[in-house]
Amino acid sequence: MISIRNVTKSFGRVQAVRDVSLQIRAGEFFSLLGASGSGKTTLLRMLAGFEAVTSGSIVIDGQAMESVPPHNRPINMVFQNYAIFPHLNVRDNIAYGLRRLNIPKPKQAEMVDEMLGLIALPGYGDRRANQLSGGQMQRVALARALILKPKVLLLDEPLGALDKQLREQMQLELRLLQQRLGITFVLVTHDQEEALTLSDRIAVMAQGAVVQVDTPTGLYERPQNRTVAAFIGTMNFFDAVVHRQGMPEVQVQGLGRRRLNGQDGGRPDGTAATVAIRPENLTLHSTQPGPGAVEGVVQAQQYLGGRQMLHVAIPGRTTPVAVAIQGPGDAFISSLSPGQNVWLTWKDDAVLLLDAG
Ligand SMILES: Nc1ncnc2c1ncn2[C@@H]1O[C@H](COP(=O)(O)OP(=O)(O)O)[C@@H](O)[C@H]1O
Ligand SMILES: [Mg+2]
Repeated sequence: MISIRNVTKSFGRVQAVRDVSLQIRAGEFFSLLGASGSGKTTLLRMLAGFEAVTSGSIVIDGQAMESVPPHNRPINMVFQNYAIFPHLNVRDNIAYGLRRLNIPKPKQAEMVDEMLGLIALPGYGDRRANQLSGGQMQRVALARALILKPKVLLLDEPLGALDKQLREQMQLELRLLQQRLGITFVLVTHDQEEALTLSDRIAVMAQGAVVQVDTPTGLYERPQNRTVAAFIGTMNFFDAVVHRQGMPEVQVQGLGRRRLNGQDGGRPDGTAATVAIRPENLTLHSTQPGPGAVEGVVQAQQYLGGRQMLHVAIPGRTTPVAVAIQGPGDAFISSLSPGQNVWLTWKDDAVLLLDAG
């Protein structure tokens, strides 16, 4: 549906987007995820045609977009600050984009009613927009964009202005709406949880470039580098050095020498690397369970509702290691308190070797 080929955008000396290439499929819920300033909005605005590309090309639905103005693209856009008109009622806000299309009034009314049903606000047509809650306003903005039946809907941090509870509810609604309509959604967000729950695929952006494109599971389980691993979920990082004399191993800060099941990717002897382990892949023991276990001291316990995180200090390392416990934990876990000695183990296949940096 969307083909972005080597697109770069410069504002004077600032390169906002650097050589980005992406293929987005029809009907896909695709997200651009990255910290503030990583180039997400600029990329979205080039798709919408509000910004020209400096170099590269964009093809949407088989058509090169170079000389196509925004209103002729098969696309519509929803912004963070629901750009709806406060003095118009809901019905007129939703019908706004139909005005220049020469659609008979009764047909327009029918289309608006359909949209009011879709956004679960039937009967709200005559309300003034400034009498709505934030979540309702954002749904009206969605309806206004969707009534034109775009092939692609672009959403720039559309839930950013809502409080947490409403945001989570709207996330679910957005996903259901997208599935029902089968429209291609491209969402911009800096919220990794939002991207993970909503998307079929995610492009992680940093400093204007795409760092990795993958499914939510793929990004979580197989991050290609430290930037992605740090951005998605919680991760323990350990500095490491590859050793290739005899059996390939890594010397890991705080963990000693470790085998890495062929994960070293042929890195030469002496290469600096990063070892990454998710908190849920570490296990705590009250006594030494065997060779290879690492001794530490509980520093803090963090209750997260439904799960908890234990922070364990180990020698040779300044940052404590985070260990996740699902549910209430057993008698040993409940008995833990700061200052207590524990032993850590992990499954070798849960360890990722990434580039240093
Ligand atoms: N119109 C502009 N003029 C100059 N610099 C811009 C302009 N728009 C964006 N930038 C710069 O481009 C970079 C990317 O911005 P943006 O695409 O808004 O990032 P994001 O949406 O990921 O927060 C930033 O450094 C920003 O300051
Ligand atoms: Mg932005």
